[in-house]
Amino acid sequence: MKAAVISKYGRDQKLSLVDIDVPVCGACDALVEIHAASLNPIDFKIRDGKIRFIRSYSFPWIMGHDLAGVVTAVGSKVTRFKVGDKVFSRPRNGRTGSLAQFIAVNENELALMPKNLSFEEAASIPLVGLTSWQALFDTAHMKSGDHVFIQAGSGGVGSFAVQLAKQFGAYVITTTSSRNVEFVRGLGADEVIDYTSKKFEDVLQNVDIVFDTLGGEALYKSFQVLRPGGWVVSISGDPDQRLAQDMGLNFFKREVLRLVGRKANKLAAKARAHYRFIFMHSSGSQLAQIAQLIEAGKIKPIIDKVFSFEESQLAVEYLEQGRSRGKVVIKIR
Ligand SMILES: NC(=O)c1ccc[n+]([C@@H]2O[C@H](COP(=O)([O-])OP(=O)(O)OC[C@H]3O[C@@H](n4cnc5c(N)ncnc54)[C@H](OP(=O)(O)O)[C@@H]3O)[C@@H](O)[C@H]2O)c1
Repeated sequence: MKAAVISKYGRDQKLSLVDIDVPVCGACDALVEIHAASLNPIDFKIRDGKIRFIRSYSFPWIMGHDLAGVVTAVGSKVTRFKVGDKVFSRPRNGRTGSLAQFIAVNENELALMPKNLSFEEAASIPLVGLTSWQALFDTAHMKSGDHVFIQAGSGGVGSFAVQLAKQFGAYVITTTSSRNVEFVRGLGADEVIDYTSKKFEDVLQNVDIVFDTLGGEALYKSFQVLRPGGWVVSISGDPDQRLAQDMGLNFFKREVLRLVGRKANKLAAKARAHYRFIFMHSSGSQLAQIAQLIEAGKIKPIIDKVFSFEESQLAVEYLEQGRSRGKVVIKIR
């Protein structure tokens, strides 16, 4: 099969399309013929070696964490999927690689595609959908009526999280640049702060939950706008020792991450608030719940641009500019 790979870490590494073996379908796996994939910043962060302190990768490494396609074979222990099913997934770490014609995915990490979506639309959902779900529900325990501030509402994660929070009755506040203000309003944001003319820390207060997708100063300033007892959940800021513990990292790495997370945790203590950095994880059951919301028309996929398989490198360069509105998708078939 064809797959888009990099052969070593490095910002200068370019994707190349190579021929490799179709993956082996294990007893608990479904073999999926991929029709579409989508990119996420994690793809180029892995290429750059930015994640290797906490997770190592072997090469050639097939890029891509999100996919939609058709099941072409199932392992002997698979009970929930059959040949011909249209599925989508964000497979677990160590088994990703969706810029390829086939992938073997554990059935616990698969869900049936929403019936009203194309393959391209379905491939845009899993990673950003699961991340938003796990940040807002599993971590911050969002409930109806909460004031939820989502940084960067026009991005891949933000455009999903704004819709999800709105659907569950939150009052949604978000930031974006002038050109995207109307776009994020259309997703359901109640309050939009144009970051080119206003600082969010000057206009917000008593927020229940901040979902930080930016990190750096945006993370640190988030603590100024929280109510006591509120939550800052970051996916882009400073990991800490709790994450290290959850990931089972060794003592040395736990200590390093304790230092990395010290500033955010100090600010949280001062604000009498909670802070968590999370790494999303795969989950077929959460993806199935997300699929129901999409089928009910409550959440829509937001695609900025679709590239062909041969244009995968261009797609990565486009995403890296950090200006995409929604998701960057690759049509594999
Ligand atoms: N930890 C995890 O499990 C996890 C999971 C998913 C994503 N992430 C991380 O989360 C981050 C966001 O991911 P993504 O997929 O949403 O990225 P993305 O789609 O590339 O985000 C691009 C968007 O960010 C907006 N933006 C840039 N600077 C901004 C600012 N200062 N204020 C407000 N908006 C700004 C841009 O809007 P304008 O053009 O209007 O500025 C653009 O729409 C990445 O760092 C990614 O690696 C982590």
